[in-house]
Amino acid sequence: MEIYSKLLIYYFSGTGNSKNVALWMSSVASKRNIESVIINIAEIDRTSITPPLKGELLVFISPIHGFNYPPAMMHFIGRFPKGENNVLLMNTRAGMLIGNFITPGLTGIAFLLSSLLLKMKGYSIVGMAPFDLPSNWISVHPGLNDKTIKIIHQKIKPKVLDCTEKVLSGKTNFAALREIVQDVIVSPISVMYYLIGRFLFAKSNFASADCNNCDICIKNCPVKAIIKVNNRPFWTYNCESCMKCMSHCPKKLLKPLMGQSYYIQFYFLQF
Ligand SMILES: Cc1cc2nc3c(=O)[nH]c(=O)nc-3n(C[C@H](O)[C@H](O)[C@H](O)COP(=O)(O)O)c2cc1C
Repeated sequence: MEIYSKLLIYYFSGTGNSKNVALWMSSVASKRNIESVIINIAEIDRTSITPPLKGELLVFISPIHGFNYPPAMMHFIGRFPKGENNVLLMNTRAGMLIGNFITPGLTGIAFLLSSLLLKMKGYSIVGMAPFDLPSNWISVHPGLNDKTIKIIHQKIKPKVLDCTEKVLSGKTNFAALREIVQDVIVSPISVMYYLIGRFLFAKSNFASADCNNCDICIKNCPVKAIIKVNNRPFWTYNCESCMKCMSHCPKKLLKPLMGQSYYIQFYFLQF
């Protein structure tokens, strides 16, 4: 007899890492004959969220942006209705490969803030698990190549499956708490990123001269932050710098100013 009647996975994803985690989790649930529903928070009406039913396990997955969940996920959690369900918090962070070792990203205040909010709403947190998937932070480093991305996926996927098995079996997973010291140390930077940094990153995005105005970036933006100005894509302050526009640009002509000289390469399984 399973503990949970259903898995409700709420995700936000720019370049596919968090979406992949949602799909991997769902595959574990289906092997156990537990129904799972994957909900892209960018595609639903966030002002009227259906309250969860008793016995459903809630999972929130999102990338880390500036040592916190991006505003879209924080606002979603902030608006989430009250309830008494168990909640598993997950994130995907900037994983890089050095030799055989995946360097870990930094979660910062994402889990601390969101768990506080959800606890105040009545929920019980049964896990906080970070996963270091291929970094898409191409404003601060060159894009990763196909081989590196494949290796990171191969190494991290089993950890996601294992974590899902454990939590579905009624165990807890608070792996993130091992990093609480560095998470608290970077908390002032998360606040600065939220107040200032994210706007600077948003404004550093541009389309190069060869852009043919196909509008794919505008159509795909999960937060509708790209508009047309003088018949060119223009990034407003609503941009979360999730990089979805860049990963979808067929000609790879969109760039963050700070990383414009880098070769941008994306390899994401689900896109
Ligand atoms: C603007 C921006 C800020 C980021 N900030 C962080 C960070 O603070 N810590 C971290 O570990 N990774 C950071 N990353 C990396 C992403 O969290 C990571 O690559 C994530 O797996 C992307 O998930 P997605 O493909 O679902 O969007 C950042 C990426 C971007 C684009």
